[in-house]
Amino acid sequence: MSAATTPRPQTETPLLEFDGLRIDLPVKGEHRTVVHRVDLAIPAGSAVGLVGESGSGKSLTARSVLRLLPPGARVGGDVRYDGKSVPAMDPAALRTLRSRETAMVFQDPRAHINPLRTIGDFLTEALVTARGERRKAAEDKAAALLREVGIADAARRLRQRPAELSGGLLQRVMIAAALLGGPRLLLADEPTTALDVTTQAEVMSLIDEARTQRGLAMLFITHDLALAAAVCDRIAVMYAGSVTEQLPAARLHDDARHPYTRALLASRPDPGDGARPLRAIGGNPLTAYEAGPGCAFAPRCSATGAGCESERPRLEPLGDGFAACHYPHHPAAVAPGTDRSTRHA
Ligand SMILES: Nc1ncnc2c1ncn2[C@@H]1O[C@H](COP(=O)(O)OP(=O)(O)O)[C@@H](O)[C@H]1O
Ligand SMILES: [Mg+2]
Repeated sequence: MSAATTPRPQTETPLLEFDGLRIDLPVKGEHRTVVHRVDLAIPAGSAVGLVGESGSGKSLTARSVLRLLPPGARVGGDVRYDGKSVPAMDPAALRTLRSRETAMVFQDPRAHINPLRTIGDFLTEALVTARGERRKAAEDKAAALLREVGIADAARRLRQRPAELSGGLLQRVMIAAALLGGPRLLLADEPTTALDVTTQAEVMSLIDEARTQRGLAMLFITHDLALAAAVCDRIAVMYAGSVTEQLPAARLHDDARHPYTRALLASRPDPGDGARPLRAIGGNPLTAYEAGPGCAFAPRCSATGAGCESERPRLEPLGDGFAACHYPHHPAAVAPGTDRSTRHA
């Protein structure tokens, strides 16, 4: 990675670091680039929100941390966990990474749990088989965790099967399962997207509390910029397979400079401005392999200038963050408030 794209110097090695990550997948006999370039660092104990429209490569980026990519995937650049290259890990190190160091929570819990087995079997299996804990001790631990994630009648739930639980309850079970191994890093991929609005808020605050109490690091994937800003320390925005901007969550509204980030901000209803209509971003999002040689956002951007169509901008330091934009000081991107009424209508 060049100096220009190196995330801000850390006093210690970040717990998780994407270093020019690129992912190509086989599609119809050829390899297509689906993640073009992800540079991102997550210090121990801190939460980074990875935000972007569908197809931008968020899930594949998260899955690369556990080497859970589709068959035939080619990975370029590096992903380092605690300084160790994940693509280079031997099977034993990879098992430890997956079972003890990290845990993943997915959008659809039902797709990741065996419908025929009980919640108790699901929760205790890893502790009993991989760690050699006694069954009774593992069950007590599972019941205590279920209570911690807000499931009152834990003993009864342990004997039930997934179909007997609502989506919200099942996602709580998945969060308990994620915490059971005592991970240092939580990978949460749209964990509340499939839930109804009330349950979403409950499950999100549960994740937030469990994470902060335990001091876990988190990569939180969502298409909801405001939600990410509410629970994360930093925000990274992804577009067409690349990180296009990264900045402290607290600075998002005032300091975001990439026209895509500003368009995402403007497309959300503002609680303080009930009269302002919701704006969609014009045009369709591109995948990494559809993007031309220039800035992938250029076809949808109203702040373009020379070079945007021909030269892909690199992630460069900007204020407290980084942005990959040739014109980050374009008036349309700089003035929060005015941009909302003049751009991306
Ligand atoms: N197994 C696969 N084979 C081919 N293409 C895939 C596969 N999985 C994902 N993709 C493509 O890779 C791109 C990024 O996918 P993904 O990481 O799931 O995006 P996001 O999570 O941001 O919606 C998309 O264009 C998607 O269609
Ligand atoms: Mg996804």
